[in-house]
Amino acid sequence: MSRNPRALPEGCVVGKRFRVGRVLGSGGFGITYLVQDNEIGGIYAMKEYFPQEWAVRCMDRINIEPVDVHKSYLYRHGLEVFENEANILHKLRDDQVVVDVLCAFRENHTAYFLMEYVRGMNLAQYAKRHASFSQDELKAIVCRVAHSLSKIHSKGLLHRDISPDNIMIGDSGEVKLIDFGATRQYVMNETTEMSVLIKPGFAPMEQYSRTGRQGPWTDVYALAATYYYLLTGKKPLSAVDRSTGGRMKRIRQIVPETQEQVCRAIEKALALDYSHRTQSMEEFLKDLEEDGGRGMPHMLVCSGGKLHKYRFGAGQIVRIGRAENECDILLGESDISRIHCQVSYDERSGRFLLEDHSLNGTYTERGPVGKGHSAWLVPGEAFYLVSRKNRIVLEVK
Ligand SMILES: Nc1ncnc2c1ncn2[C@@H]1O[C@H](COP(=O)(O)OP(=O)(O)O)[C@@H](O)[C@H]1O
Ligand SMILES: [Mg+2]
Repeated sequence: MSRNPRALPEGCVVGKRFRVGRVLGSGGFGITYLVQDNEIGGIYAMKEYFPQEWAVRCMDRINIEPVDVHKSYLYRHGLEVFENEANILHKLRDDQVVVDVLCAFRENHTAYFLMEYVRGMNLAQYAKRHASFSQDELKAIVCRVAHSLSKIHSKGLLHRDISPDNIMIGDSGEVKLIDFGATRQYVMNETTEMSVLIKPGFAPMEQYSRTGRQGPWTDVYALAATYYYLLTGKKPLSAVDRSTGGRMKRIRQIVPETQEQVCRAIEKALALDYSHRTQSMEEFLKDLEEDGGRGMPHMLVCSGGKLHKYRFGAGQIVRIGRAENECDILLGESDISRIHCQVSYDERSGRFLLEDHSLNGTYTERGPVGKGHSAWLVPGEAFYLVSRKNRIVLEVK
């Protein structure tokens, strides 16, 4: 592969002793190089601040300068944010999962920091080169990252850019979290100044607006989206596409052998509205490790003389109808609509929300719900599709 033309030339020396080698990766705000320490010979990864929208490499191929005077303010502000990344990594140096940072310095009108070099691959590269992880391996990797993020959150920090390319897996199996470039110290009620940095498919809805309420649940969404991608090999539909009616494929439609509780945990963590989502890494871990779905909402579906129990997660939307690819519960009769109705469970109020989309009606004991309308039901209540032949009882146990 030819070298990124914006990158420092191979062989040049920065920080008086670090000889620049190949490019490990480059993004919108920086370039990461493999470097060798000329004094003691160690190999490191070195990240250089280089915002591609605002700056260019000078004719000398070494220095960096803002593209014009208007961009110089942005350039300088970005430089501080970049240096903040090194500070954050330094604060997290006791965490085994967070990559170690060794030093930071300014040179060439830009800034650099040096990290331990993780010999291995990021998870995006891994997923492309290998068939896939086993389900157990994958769960172990995600749980390691979740544990580490829970400690990071307890220090008042967010990662805000969790994605397959920001999690590395070393040759001896160690898991490393990198790229805290989007991290900011966050104060509970002070979210207005958070800049917007989006990775479609992995970024939750609240990151699309400057005033979106971000918190641990923001990293929860991105980690669950990463898990979804690694399990299925498919990038989740972006939050914006989902909010305008796009449907993300259910995990079990793509990988039917996935454990039910894993699917439930991921789907709950991917709730579009943060207030319906898994709130913390501890909760996500608990959901992943929960056995057998105790205390879970479920439905008893009595149709065509058969009884079927369907468990689901809080916040998960369960669609019932005739359309094979779009419904979670299939009822085959011709008077049932393609998507007849949907049900979700609201953990906070302990109630179910039933929405009717049907031609022939969805009924509670109180009467018809009405197409396009919804009704709240409490555990123990039942509803019907078209007639009492299709009866569904809602329970939490
Ligand atoms: N410490 C490291 N050791 C090995 N490779 C790294 C290291 N840091 C970054 N990389 C590689 O470089 C890529 C880009 O680095 P990253 O810090 O994520 O910057 P960006 O802001 O460009 O995404 C990563 O996805 C990874 O493949
Ligand atoms: Mg990255």
